[in-house]
Amino acid sequence: MNHEWSIRIPRPYRKKISPREPLITGQRAIDFLFSIAKGGIAIFPGGFGTGKTILEQSIAKFADVDIVVYVGCGERGNEMAEMIEEFELLNDPWTQSRLMKRTILVINTSNMPVAAREASIYTAVTIAEYYRDMGYHVILLADSISRWAEALREISSSLEEMPGEEGYPTYLSSRLSGFIERAGVVETYSGTVGSLTMVLSVSPPGGDFTEPVTQSCLRTTGTFLMLDTSLAHKRHFPAINWFQSYSLYADELSGHYKEHVAPEWETAQVRCREILQKEEALREVVEIVGIEGIQDEDRLMLHTAERLRTEFLSQNAYTEDAFSSLEQTFSAIKGILDFYNNAEKQLKDGVPISEILVEKKPVHAKQKTSEGS
Ligand SMILES: Nc1ncnc2c1ncn2[C@@H]1O[C@H](COP(=O)(O)OP(=O)(O)OP(=O)(O)O)[C@@H](O)[C@H]1O
Ligand SMILES: [Mg+2]
Repeated sequence: MNHEWSIRIPRPYRKKISPREPLITGQRAIDFLFSIAKGGIAIFPGGFGTGKTILEQSIAKFADVDIVVYVGCGERGNEMAEMIEEFELLNDPWTQSRLMKRTILVINTSNMPVAAREASIYTAVTIAEYYRDMGYHVILLADSISRWAEALREISSSLEEMPGEEGYPTYLSSRLSGFIERAGVVETYSGTVGSLTMVLSVSPPGGDFTEPVTQSCLRTTGTFLMLDTSLAHKRHFPAINWFQSYSLYADELSGHYKEHVAPEWETAQVRCREILQKEEALREVVEIVGIEGIQDEDRLMLHTAERLRTEFLSQNAYTEDAFSSLEQTFSAIKGILDFYNNAEKQLKDGVPISEILVEKKPVHAKQKTSEGS
């Protein structure tokens, strides 16, 4: 059963296939607005305490894949210890067997040597490729790739190499893309199809996204999820900024959602974005004239946008709501949009706004905390 492979060399395959299937993460904001493809690449940069680790771990728990490879790269040891304990107890939502059975952890915490940290992501990607070659869908999660880059910087400076931007070696970008390129859907030599998806967190110092690591990742990523410090301060988690984030897989995957979940998936998406955008435009006006000073249609729109933010886009990782299937996601968004459409009609028919807003029914009434379960 022993298999040797040099971790710096990508394992071979017959051919690469372009990603066509979505990776279901169970996070509404991702699955609905910024989908990740199986075999795709997602990065989420976020400042201190914006929920990177929790998001990585949530995806590790709920993603619809066969194998999860998680690299704790230069982060806190206690987080990894908690993860091992938790994963031993939890069940995989897709197969109902223990989560740990499908999970491989590569642990390289902040107190471990930098050379090992630099190598850790390669060890992980090689393990992931090994399973991909068996025709499995594999996800590689790394928290965080910035710590890897820092290790590379340290090694490079002790080798007295010429430093580039912010002291990182000049080959940072090419190294990083060489690593990220190992993701993808492939036809293996045995004729099966396997995929390797990468979800990488980036911790830019001071939340400054213009720094070299974030910029290098941006060039190669398909899904970009910007974690917003101001949302995290408001306790809106996952703190994914809906204006700055994007998914380049959206067009390829929309057919899949329309066919397998709901034909109105895309129209609902457009409507949801529209409402959030209008809210942003109105916010300044409301700050000046107050909520009473705006038209009833606008008040209704603001109310709907708030519901979208609080009931749909935010998802508490410690409650039953931590995982949302595509069907649940669609029915949640449909509930809010249907309410909005009906309320608009009622408003036109002369029903007072105060009466309409009283009628609202929260979609997610279940806020029971199951912390530690
Ligand atoms: N989905 C969520 N539901 C509820 N709380 C959350 C969620 N995501 C993050 N939090 C809260 O935010 C805190 C910080 O999250 P986390 O440790 O994941 O941040 P981080 O970005 O990894 O921080 P660091 O930069 O220190 O590594 C958590 O302890 C938790 O209280
Ligand atoms: Mg963290």
